[in-house]
Amino acid sequence: MPHSPSPVPDFLYGTAWKEDHTPALTELALRMGFRGIDTANQRRHYFEEGVGQGLAAAYRAGVVTRDDLFLQTKFTYRPGQDHRLPYDPAASLSVQVAQSMASSLDHLATGYIDSYLLHGPSSNHDWTDADTEVWEAMHKERDAGRARFLGVSNVSLHHLQQMADACAELPAFVQNRCYARLGWDRDVRLFCRERKIIYQGFSFLTANQEVLRHPLIARLTNASVAANANATPAQVVFSFARAVGVLPLTGTSDREHMKQDLASRELTLPPNAIHAIESLAG
Ligand SMILES: NC(=O)c1ccc[n+]([C@@H]2O[C@H](COP(=O)([O-])OP(=O)(O)OC[C@H]3O[C@@H](n4cnc5c(N)ncnc54)[C@H](OP(=O)(O)O)[C@@H]3O)[C@@H](O)[C@H]2O)c1
Repeated sequence: MPHSPSPVPDFLYGTAWKEDHTPALTELALRMGFRGIDTANQRRHYFEEGVGQGLAAAYRAGVVTRDDLFLQTKFTYRPGQDHRLPYDPAASLSVQVAQSMASSLDHLATGYIDSYLLHGPSSNHDWTDADTEVWEAMHKERDAGRARFLGVSNVSLHHLQQMADACAELPAFVQNRCYARLGWDRDVRLFCRERKIIYQGFSFLTANQEVLRHPLIARLTNASVAANANATPAQVVFSFARAVGVLPLTGTSDREHMKQDLASRELTLPPNAIHAIESLAG
């Protein structure tokens, strides 16, 4: 464990779908100021080893040290993977978790992960015994010092309620896709708020194209309204996310967008605007 673990950052840089560009984009994100990195040991959508290469380049260049960073990765069940598995599919789920974690630590050249997530429950409908077995195996990883915090991703309110009944401990993080038409995942956000779980939101821009074009958002990009420099619709949405207690992810591949996404932290929206955006589409 580190001597002074890094705090939870206020923005996470997502590394999905970047393939051969993963090392360079991870390094660029750190150079631009991101300190939280999200990945997964799921070669189908992520190149975790490439994230490790980007981290190594940033360490070598003196941009950051490991202790400056908040590294998050995930355990992904067999159906979410392709043939490039980080574990023996014939092994028990508990062993798969241990093997996947060992492989993540190797990819990222670190002794511990800041946040370890279950990528998604085994069923879209229910929290199952398999999920409880995986969750308990994840606890063993944490108790052995290989993870600081645990979380779950792609969960419904029903999953979380069932998890609360089945498991002794709730997650420190929930990471979900945030659809404006579902009140920005209102039910799950409220569950998290009541239990002091940090809600991480992704797909703010890609899942909510119609909201980004909405006149209300356009009005808020105006300097006189936002009490700030001119903002972009993406910045308004990220600022809104933070105002309602969400820790946002961005996976931009563009240097300028990295800068703009981080700068959204300086944007302050009026309270009535936050309320209006929250109920804009659902
Ligand atoms: N747990 C899960 O199952 C799960 C699922 C999906 C994603 N994630 C995580 O979340 C991360 C983010 O994924 P995402 O679904 O939110 O999509 P994304 O990969 O972040 O895509 C965002 C899109 O918005 C654009 N964009 C970003 N900043 C912008 C800005 N300031 N102005 C205009 N356009 C901007 C990007 O284009 P440019 O590249 O041109 O900027 C890109 O097309 C992933 O990398 C991954 O780590 C997790």
